[in-house]
Amino acid sequence: MTSNHISSGNIIPSMEKPEHYRDDCNRIACIYDPLVRFIASFFGGEEILRRLTIDKMDLKPGQKVLDVGCGTGTLCAMIAEAIGSDGAVVGVDLSENMLKKAENKGEDNIRFCYANAEEIPYADGYFDRASVTFGLHEMPHSVRMNVLCEMRRVLKPGGRITVLDYAYPKRALAVLLFKVWMLVEGETARDFIRRDLSSMIRDAGFDVIEQNVYWMNTIQIVSGENAETYNKGSGAGQ
Ligand SMILES: C[S@@+](CC[C@H](N)C(=O)[O-])C[C@H]1O[C@@H](n2cnc3c(N)ncnc32)[C@H](O)[C@@H]1O
Repeated sequence: MTSNHISSGNIIPSMEKPEHYRDDCNRIACIYDPLVRFIASFFGGEEILRRLTIDKMDLKPGQKVLDVGCGTGTLCAMIAEAIGSDGAVVGVDLSENMLKKAENKGEDNIRFCYANAEEIPYADGYFDRASVTFGLHEMPHSVRMNVLCEMRRVLKPGGRITVLDYAYPKRALAVLLFKVWMLVEGETARDFIRRDLSSMIRDAGFDVIEQNVYWMNTIQIVSGENAETYNKGSGAGQ
């Protein structure tokens, strides 16, 4: 397992990206933040959506928190604020360009880590909370399941996972616009919305505790609790 912790502007990826990895995220890193802000502005703004995620994570001062596919680190910065200087946030991503952007938002209690989320370089049960926002739809299904199981491995028993991602809308106009957007997003996203996120989270070994939809039913936030001790191999790769 190879990874690279990032601090003070030195990002030297020391591992090959896995075959499934879509490098689009790496290429759009420089416009990612304004793009998300622009899209979110039609639905009440990015801040509200991020805040909802933070609320669902039920963060407490001093906790250790993992953010998978952290991108430019916007959520990491908000988590860092919520858990205070006694807590620690680790943002994991496979895009060096996203991580370079993330560094600019770095607080003292955030660590960014260049790693594949299928092999998170932390011990079993290390984290109290884990999140992945707009990340799972970027991955093929088998990788998604590996990532969810890996998140469970590094979460303490009783620890919480919070996932934000696309949901399939119900109203005709929203469905039409959403289908066009899914053409832009690509095959893994189209596969993601055909599936049930709560079932994926359950199959990875969590008890689902809450599910809510937003933005005309195009976004969902699902939280689960790691009720059991880690059992290697359960649920992965389905
Ligand atoms: C659409 S961005 C979301 C960024 C951020 N979480 C947000 O909410 O804005 C998806 C991120 O997941 C990362 N990613 C995709 N597959 C990954 C993997 N296997 N391991 C780590 N990061 C991955 C990409 O590099 C990208 O930065």
